[in-house]
Amino acid sequence: MLRGKSIKTLQELEQDEIYAILSRAKELKSWLRMRKEHQFLKGKTIALLFEKPSTRTRVSFEVAIAHLGAEPIYLDSSDLQISRGESIEDTAKVLSRYVDAIVMRTYSQDRLNKLAYYSSVPVINALTDDFHPCQILADFLTIYEKKRRLSDLKLAYVGDGNNIAQTLLIGCSKLKMDIWVSCPNGYAPKKEVIDLALTNAKGESIVKVINDPKEAVKGADIIYTDTWVSMGQEEEAGKKRKVFQFYQVNEDLVSLADESFIFMHCLPAHRGEEVVGEIIDGKHSVVFEQAENRLHIQKALLNLIM
Ligand code: CP
Ligand code: NVA
Repeated sequence: MLRGKSIKTLQELEQDEIYAILSRAKELKSWLRMRKEHQFLKGKTIALLFEKPSTRTRVSFEVAIAHLGAEPIYLDSSDLQISRGESIEDTAKVLSRYVDAIVMRTYSQDRLNKLAYYSSVPVINALTDDFHPCQILADFLTIYEKKRRLSDLKLAYVGDGNNIAQTLLIGCSKLKMDIWVSCPNGYAPKKEVIDLALTNAKGESIVKVINDPKEAVKGADIIYTDTWVSMGQEEEAGKKRKVFQFYQVNEDLVSLADESFIFMHCLPAHRGEEVVGEIIDGKHSVVFEQAENRLHIQKALLNLIM
C-alpha cells in the first residue's frame, strides 16, 4: 500500500495498526459531520499520478487533501514525459523534490514498487493490477459500521480473482474475518497471495478459494463482487462475460446468505453482469456508504503517514 522509508504494505501492517487507521477515519468522519477544522497538512503538496481512469479514488483523495489544508496536483500520466519513455526511476526522483507525497494508480505492482523505491517521499497505492488497499480499508470501516465487528463474520467474494479479491484475502485474514472467494477455473487469485492469507489466518479464521459461488455465499454476512473486466483487460471482455455468467450476484444466489447480509461492490458496477439491479439498488446494499468511506480513509491515511 505505502512505501518509502518506514511505510508499509497492507500485508506488513499488524492488526492493531489496521484498527488504528479505521479508528482515525471514524474520528475524522465525525469531525466532518461537526464541521470541525483539521488542517494537519497545511502547506503540503501531494501529487496524484494516475495511469488508469478513476472517479472515487481521485475525487476522494483530492477532497481529503483539500480538507486537510494541503494542495493536490492531479497528473494524468499521458501528459507527463513518462508517456514518451522517461523512466519511473527519474520520475520518482524528480517528483520527490517538488511534492510531499505521491498517490499512484498504475498497472503492475512492480511499477508502483519501483516508484516507491526511488521516491524519497511516501507513496500510496491507489490501485494496481494486484492490490487496492485504500478501497479495502474503506470497506472494513463500512463493515464495522454495519456489523459492529470485523472478526467472527463470513465474507463471500463472487467473481474474478482480481486486485479486489486479492486485497480482501490479505485484509480479511489479517483481521480474522472468514473469507470465501468463489471464481471460475483459471481466474483464481495468485497462489502466493492465497498462501499469504493462509499464513496470516494462522488457522484462526477460514481462507477458502473455491469454484462454487453457492457454497461461498451459504450463511454469509457479507457478499462482495466486482467487475468481471478490470481496467486494462478490455480485450478479454467477450470471453470473460461468458466464463463468468454463473457468477452473477442475483436473487437466487443471495437467498443462501444470512438474512441480514450486506452487499458490497467497490464500483464502478455493471448492472446485469456481475450483479443485478435489484441487489445493488436494494435494501442490503451498502455500496454508496463504501464509496463515501473512501474519503474518510484517505484522510486518515494521509494524516497518519505524513
Ligand atoms: N472503487 C474505485 O477505486 O473506483 P474508481 O476507479 O472510480 O477510483
Ligand atoms: N478490479 C477493478 C477495480 C476498480 C476499482 C479494476 O481494477 O478495474
